[in-house]
Amino acid sequence: MNFLNIDDLTREQLETVLTEAERLKAGETTADAMAGDTMAMIFEKPSTRTRVSFETGATQLGGHAIFLGPDDIHLGHGEPVKDTARALSRYVDVIMARVFDHADVEELGEYATVPVVNGLTDDAHPCQTLADLLTIREQFGGFDATVAWVGDGNNVCQSFVLGAAMVGLDVVVATPEAYSVDDAVLERAAELGGEPETTTDPEAAVDGADAVYTDVWVSMGEESEREEKLSVFESDGFRITEELLGDRPLLHCLPAHRGEEVTDAAIESDNAIVWDQAENRLHAQKGLLTYLLS
Ligand code: CP
Ligand code: NVA
Repeated sequence: MNFLNIDDLTREQLETVLTEAERLKAGETTADAMAGDTMAMIFEKPSTRTRVSFETGATQLGGHAIFLGPDDIHLGHGEPVKDTARALSRYVDVIMARVFDHADVEELGEYATVPVVNGLTDDAHPCQTLADLLTIREQFGGFDATVAWVGDGNNVCQSFVLGAAMVGLDVVVATPEAYSVDDAVLERAAELGGEPETTTDPEAAVDGADAVYTDVWVSMGEESEREEKLSVFESDGFRITEELLGDRPLLHCLPAHRGEEVTDAAIESDNAIVWDQAENRLHAQKGLLTYLLS
């Protein structure tokens, strides 16, 4: 199976992956699910966490990972996506891909004969959601909590909204009008049993929330929109300051752009649980790879 969106897993499969991740983190299970296996990792965009946590995770599971940056393979310039999918499938046991266009991971998934994992597209970041849910379960002992999303309603937010719906976590999403979550994602969240609230008012979202989650205002590939986006988010009060955060835990998928979506003081405060969240990428993805390859 492929993991292109968080809801490619059923609720039961999601629970299995999270539980496996917790057991791996606690050292309660043998980590050899990738013995003799190789993972191809395609990156059209930069990455710190995704690249290093996947590569380290593969090693820790007894396998091997190959990093394929934009200048290393023909994908996107000399070869159709479907041909890359078919050739890589003859060598490796799993493909992880970070690309711009979500349709490209769908095409990889359609033509590959090994599992394809989405390591971030412009629309979704399901591996991040696995780590987010793991972090929230550690923080609150379950999912009986409300998280305020304050920021852009794009990839990280969209996967988080769907993942939250799957586990029964309440989410209030504050975005500027022009950068809201896609209607299709909200409809899918409702199908999954979620009732995400949406607003354009960050203070209203945070009020009554148990934790606050934000992401950069200018995502990779949006550099030409930088001035416009900064102006909208800043004037609409979307920066996470210590005052807005209060004593709530702060989540951020990282990288953080201090002085833009979050102040240095807020992310350096004891409320930030962003390093646990980053660490959980490793455990969550090991849980996922164990599930996909077993
Ligand atoms: N959160 C995340 O995916 O980080 P990287 O861009 O560093 O991989
Ligand atoms: N929204 C950000 C997330 C980075 C992990 C981006 O797409 O650049």
